[in-house]
Amino acid sequence: MKKGILQRILESAVWRSIFRTGIPDTDLKRSMLMYNNFFLHIFPVKMKRHGLRFCYTFCLGGISFLLFIILCVTGILLMFLYTPSIERAYFDMQALALIFNGKILRNLHRWAAHGMVVTVFLHMVRVFYTRSYRPPREFNWVIGIWLLILTLALSYTGYLLPWDQLAYWGITVGTTIMSYTPFLGKHIQYFVLGADEVGHEALLRFYVLHCAVIPFVALVLMAIHFWRVRKDGGISGPL
Ligand code: HEM
Repeated sequence: MKKGILQRILESAVWRSIFRTGIPDTDLKRSMLMYNNFFLHIFPVKMKRHGLRFCYTFCLGGISFLLFIILCVTGILLMFLYTPSIERAYFDMQALALIFNGKILRNLHRWAAHGMVVTVFLHMVRVFYTRSYRPPREFNWVIGIWLLILTLALSYTGYLLPWDQLAYWGITVGTTIMSYTPFLGKHIQYFVLGADEVGHEALLRFYVLHCAVIPFVALVLMAIHFWRVRKDGGISGPL
C-alpha cells in the first residue's frame, strides 16, 4: 500500500535526525523524549507528587520567570522606538502614545517589572517559610539572593530611561545616598553615573546595563538556578 505524505515525513532520515525517539507511546520512549529534547531536558523525567501541589510553591518562581520573559519581549520592542540620548529619550517615550498599541507596550513592560519585584520577593518568602534554604539547597539560596539583587538593579536602571522629572530626581537622590558610603562614596557615585551628576553618561550607562548586561547575567544565573533545583532532587519538602 502507498504510504501517506505524513508517514513518509515521519520515517524520513531528516525527521529522525531531529526527533530521535519517535512517537512516545511507552514509558521508556517518554523518558528518552525528555532527555533528548533541548527544551524539555530541564524538566525531571519523574517528580514527587507533592512538588506539583500548587499551594506548596504557588508557582511563584515560575511566574517570576514568565514575567522576565514578558519583560524581555516588550523590552526588545521598546528598544526599536527609544534612543538613549538626553535630547531624545523623553520625546521618544511621549511619542509612544501616538503609535498603535504603544501605551499598552509601555505599560505591559512597566507592570511586568513591578510584578516581578513582588513575585521574586514572595518566592523568597515561600522558600524561607518552607525552609528550602537548608542543605543541599543553600547554594541555590545564594544564587537566588543574586537574582533578587539583579531584579532590583533592573528596576533601578530602568527608572532613569524615560528621562522625566521623576526619573532624574529618583536617580539623583539614589546616587547621592550612595555617595555617603564611608570612604568609597564619591568613587561609587562616579562609577554609577560616569560623571559627577546625572547626565548623558549616566543615561547611556543605565541603558546598556538595563538592556544588555543585567538581563544577560540574570538569564545565566536563572539557568544555573533551575539546573540546581533539578540536581538537588527537585522541589524540597513536603513540609
Ligand atoms: C529572578 C528571580 C527568580 C526566579 C525566576 C526563580 C525561579 C525559581 C523556580 C522556577 C523554582 C522552582 C520552584 C518554584 O517555582 O518555586 C525556584 C526554586 C528555588 N528558588 Fe528561586 N527564583 C528566583 C529568585 C529566588 C530568590 C530571590 C531566592 C532566595 C533568596 C530563591 C531561592 C530558591 C530556592 C532555594 C529554590 C528551591 C526551592 C525548593 O526546593 O523548594 N530564588 N526558583
